[in-house]
Amino acid sequence: MSVEVGLVAASDLGRCPTPLLAVAVGDKRGQAVLPDLPSVLAEAMHAVRTDMRGRVGHVVIAHTGLAQGPERVAFIGVGAWGEWDAEAVRRFAGRAVRAAESRDLASLSIHVAVGDLDPSVAVQAATEGGVLASWRFTELRASLDRDDTTAIPVETIHLILDGDGGKAAAEGLRVGRAIATGQNFARTLQNRPGNIATPEHLGTEAEAMAEELGLEVEVFGIERIREERMHALLAVNQGSDLEPRFIVIRHLGGKVKEPFVALVGKGLTFDAGGISIKPSQGMEEMKFDMSGGAAVMGAMRAIAEFGLPLNVVGLIPSTENLLSGKAVKPGDVIQTRGGKMVEVINTDAEGRLILADALDYAKESGVAAIVDMATLTGSVVAALGHHAIAVLGSDEQLIQDVRDAGQRAGERCWPLPLWNEYRKQLRSEAADMMNIGGRPAGTITAAWFLREFVGDVPWAHLDIAGTAYGTEPLSYQRKGGYGIPVRLLVEWLRSRLE
Ligand code: BES
Ligand code: MN
Ligand code: ZN
Repeated sequence: MSVEVGLVAASDLGRCPTPLLAVAVGDKRGQAVLPDLPSVLAEAMHAVRTDMRGRVGHVVIAHTGLAQGPERVAFIGVGAWGEWDAEAVRRFAGRAVRAAESRDLASLSIHVAVGDLDPSVAVQAATEGGVLASWRFTELRASLDRDDTTAIPVETIHLILDGDGGKAAAEGLRVGRAIATGQNFARTLQNRPGNIATPEHLGTEAEAMAEELGLEVEVFGIERIREERMHALLAVNQGSDLEPRFIVIRHLGGKVKEPFVALVGKGLTFDAGGISIKPSQGMEEMKFDMSGGAAVMGAMRAIAEFGLPLNVVGLIPSTENLLSGKAVKPGDVIQTRGGKMVEVINTDAEGRLILADALDYAKESGVAAIVDMATLTGSVVAALGHHAIAVLGSDEQLIQDVRDAGQRAGERCWPLPLWNEYRKQLRSEAADMMNIGGRPAGTITAAWFLREFVGDVPWAHLDIAGTAYGTEPLSYQRKGGYGIPVRLLVEWLRSRLE
C-alpha cells in the first residue's frame, strides 16, 4: 500500500485538524528563523521556542494543547534559507515523515515553504521526500514485531502550501508522486534477494508493469538471446542454472517517427564473481548488482504514469554470475554481439560484458542517445565515495545535461575523464581487447570497454556502484536499495522536452 498525498490550502494552517504539523525552521547564526505561523499556533508554541534550533536535522516535537487544529507541531531544522533548494525540501519532508513515525502517527501535514523556488518544484520535491520516506520493505517478514517496524506506517500526507501554487502545485504533486512511486518500485526490486529477484522475475515484473501502465514490452528468453547473437550475455550466464533474460520496455509518448532515447541498466541478479570468485565477506550485497536495471524499470514506470511526451526504450540484460563446471573461465575468448572479440581475464568483470551486448542492441536500433547505469566497479568508491555517481561518456553536452539533471534531482554526478591514453590498458594479445584494464583507474577503463560498443551515438555512462544502496540513508531513504538514479533519469528526459 502506497501513501496518499494531497494539497491543502495554507489559510487553514492553524485550524487544520492533524495529528502532526511539520514546519521548517531556518538557521541564522544559531538563531531559529520560523516561517509566519498563524498567531494561534505561534502562541501555543511559545513555550518550546527556546528549545528550537534551525540547524539541519534538529527536530523538536511539541503538543499544542489546541482544541482545534494541529495536535502536535514538529519543528524541523533546515539550515540557512539561502540553501533552500529542491533537495533541502526533499530531506525536510523525509524528516517530517520520520517525526510522525516516531510518534506512531499514520498521518501528518507538512507545511511547504516555497521561498524562491518555483511552486511546482517545491511541491514535487516535498511529494518525493514524503512518498520515498514512507516506503518500507516488509514483504519478506513473517512478523513485523521489531523495533524498526512496530511503528504504524505513514499512510496520509497533506502538503500545506505557503502561498497559492495553483496549477503548478497540482502538476508538481502529480509528477512527484509518479517519480517517487517509480523510485520505490526500483527499491523493492533491489531489496529482493537473488533467490526471488531472478532474471525471470525481472522479466515478469516488466510484463506486469507494462500491462498495468500501457507500455510495450518484450522479454527475450535464451533462444531469442541466441538468435540476437548476444554471446557476451550468454558467456556470463554459462555458470548459472537460471536462464538469462533481455528485457525491452518501450514508452511511446512521442511522435510516431521520433527516434527513441535508450536507458540501459545492468540487471545482474547476483554477482559471485564467477570463477574469479569474490571474497565471502559482504558477498550478500551483490544481490544489488541489478540496481541499474531496477532504476530503468522505475524510470519507465514513472514516465508512463505521468505521461512523458517522448519515445523512450529501456533495455535490461539480466543474468546471474556464478561458478560451475560450465562457467566462463579466465583466458576464454568470447564474441560480443557487435562482433568484437574479448579475452576474459577476470570473470568478475562481467557487467561490462552483458552491457556490451545491450549497448550494441541499442546502437543498432537507431536510438538518438544512450544513458546506461551500472553497479560496475568497486573503484568508483575509491574515487568518489558514496556521495556521487561517476559519469563518463562520448558527448560533452550529454554529460553536462545529465549532471545538471542530477543536481536538480538530488542525485549528483561527477565526471571522470575518458581520455584516449586509458584505452591502452585494455589491449589484449589474444583478442581485440581484454575485459579488465588493471588496477589504475578501474572505473575509467570499464567505461572505455563500454565505449567500444556505442559507435557514434551520444552516450553517457553512470557508475552507481558507490551510490545505489547503503547503510547511511538520508532522511527519505532507508537502509538497502536507494532506487537511484530514477529521479535523475526522469529529470534528464524532461529536460529534453525544452
Ligand atoms: N558488481 C561489481 C562491482 C561492485 C563492487 C558493485 C562493489 C558494488 C560494490 C562488478 O561486477 C565487479 O565485480 N567489478 C570488479 C571489476 C574488476 C574485476 C576489474 C571490481 O570492481 O572489483
Ligand atoms: Mn563482478
Ligand atoms: Zn557485477
